[in-house]
Amino acid sequence: MAIPRKKFVAGNWKMNMTSSEVSPYLEVFRLETEGINNVDIAIIPPFTALAKASEILGGTQKIRLGAQNMSPEVKGAYTGEISATMLRDLFIRYVLVGHSERRRLFGETDELVHRKVVTALASELRPILCVGETLEERQAGQEKAILEAQLSGALTGLTTDQLEEIVIAYEPVWAIGTGLTATPAQAQEAHHFIRDYLATDSGLEIAAKTRILYGGSVTADNARELLFQPDIDGALVGGASLDPRSFAEIVAAAVPTE
Ligand code: PGA
Repeated sequence: MAIPRKKFVAGNWKMNMTSSEVSPYLEVFRLETEGINNVDIAIIPPFTALAKASEILGGTQKIRLGAQNMSPEVKGAYTGEISATMLRDLFIRYVLVGHSERRRLFGETDELVHRKVVTALASELRPILCVGETLEERQAGQEKAILEAQLSGALTGLTTDQLEEIVIAYEPVWAIGTGLTATPAQAQEAHHFIRDYLATDSGLEIAAKTRILYGGSVTADNARELLFQPDIDGALVGGASLDPRSFAEIVAAAVPTE
């Protein structure tokens, strides 16, 4: 029997929004999502806005918090880094790991991504592992090989209990911030491939349970069609999550119909 996967919509603010913008944002967003209870929601503000968001949300289950990055180290002389313990201290539940902007602009390798996944899990933070191919890789027909390399690089050696905590986000690099969304069929094909990979590598139960989010130019207009593909379990939203009303519309688009 198929295990139902609850939809999950997360908003990655990237390097936008100050601490003083958090309260007006949340006021509108909470109002707009008031009646929605059957979608998991997370917002992922920059580090400097996390404390404020945490204070306002007060550990509520309804809107969870995520961080955009985290050190692979536990503590110590790592100037400028933020540890998993510091995030847990603010009631943060999720952490983005391996976002393509971190891989591309900050040189994060699969090996570093793996270390971050392990450190996050050890502190009971749930990693949202981002994977996805560039346009050149897709044009060269390598997208599946790239996904496989990123998945195996990040997940190798994890136990079943650890794998159960992981959320995966498929984010084709060519669709991020470009206004070019993958078609629902393209996204579904990649998600299906990721689920197949999990089935082979980690077993059918993990494959059936793991939520795989789509990210890349998701808007209120295209969300519904993407979100109801069989292997798409939610969305990781960048630009459109900066406006609380459009982000709330995307959350509403994830509400199951029946
Ligand atoms: P976008 O970003 O929605 O602005 O394309 C998605 C992401 O990078 O998570």
